[in-house]
Amino acid sequence: EKGGFDHFMLKEIFEQPRSIADSMRGRVKAEEGTLQLGGLRDYLDKLAKSKRIVIIGCGTSWHAGLVAEYIFEELARIPVEVEYASEFRYRNPIIKEGDIVIAISQSGETADTLAAIELAKSKGAIIFGVCNVVGSSIARATHAGAFTHAGPEIGVASTKAFTAQVTVLTLMALAAAHRKGTLSESLFRQLLTELESIPAKVEQVLQAADKIKEIAYIFTYARNFIYLGRGLNFPVALEGALKLKEISYIHAEGYPAAEMKHGPIALIDEDMPVVVIATQDSSYEKVVSNIQEVKARKGRVIAVVTEGDTHLPGMVDFTIEIPRVHDILMPLVSVVPLQLLSYYIAVMRGRNVDQPRNLAKSVTVE
Ligand code: F6R
Repeated sequence: EKGGFDHFMLKEIFEQPRSIADSMRGRVKAEEGTLQLGGLRDYLDKLAKSKRIVIIGCGTSWHAGLVAEYIFEELARIPVEVEYASEFRYRNPIIKEGDIVIAISQSGETADTLAAIELAKSKGAIIFGVCNVVGSSIARATHAGAFTHAGPEIGVASTKAFTAQVTVLTLMALAAAHRKGTLSESLFRQLLTELESIPAKVEQVLQAADKIKEIAYIFTYARNFIYLGRGLNFPVALEGALKLKEISYIHAEGYPAAEMKHGPIALIDEDMPVVVIATQDSSYEKVVSNIQEVKARKGRVIAVVTEGDTHLPGMVDFTIEIPRVHDILMPLVSVVPLQLLSYYIAVMRGRNVDQPRNLAKSVTVE
């Protein structure tokens, strides 16, 4: 049932070219320049006209929400707030006429997310769900939504569900922006075409697994890790750190790269590995100077770089190349090496990767 892989987690990481394609199947037709989300059809106008979107979720699903925040704001120019469901529900959240709440949950059974949905509903919000499990409690509690169609996720650490969530949220943002008219027809078509190329690009990253394994071997016994990224790669840094914590039990923190100088830089020395997502996007130059700050303090840097980058390999200790991707779609590709890195480190430490201690696949307690 693990399809020849040692663990479900590894199988699910390697399934991503297919699960990402499945989450777009029947929805994206780049050649015709069309995008359809059946479950949102009756609500697309409301989404496009909304004054504010509140995204709620927990853990990895919350990280997918942070990625979506950038994309919705950039393409659809709708203000977005991303909240931990567990915090949202214990405040007296402000919901106004025309606000949309998007609840993200792989399992569709997370107690905090479900309670937050009920609260938002009681205040008159329209709730969209982004769930992986059809028929789940959250899917049933929402007014509309889009399933992620990633297939069953068995490994406790979420991998393919995350990339499917980001894919579906990107489609929602594209559909809203297209309807609203904030996205040009040419960029709309370009992004649809780029989306269709993502599975092949993820496949290309998976081919670097052996190299990532070698890096994991070198850092197996590190006691701490820092993950840095900017823009859309900031939530990816958080997600990389969460994966490492969950399955290897190594303390790891994710930060927006520029925030390092406001405190965490004090932690940097030769015993502090720093994973930096340093792809050639609009914040590349800035990230390079953040790397210089780490190197000046003898931190050891593992950088995720765009293929063909000739500058960073000479500056950092290790590089992992990923293919060039449109900025907006970067997280779908840049998260994959981080999933693999945490997987191999956990395996080398002899951890129970698929069922880490103290964790359950769905958290139905509050
Ligand atoms: C991370 C992880 C958890 C879940 C969180 C939300 O790998 O598995 O952080 O992401 O418990 O779960 P869902 O998405 O099922 O609501």
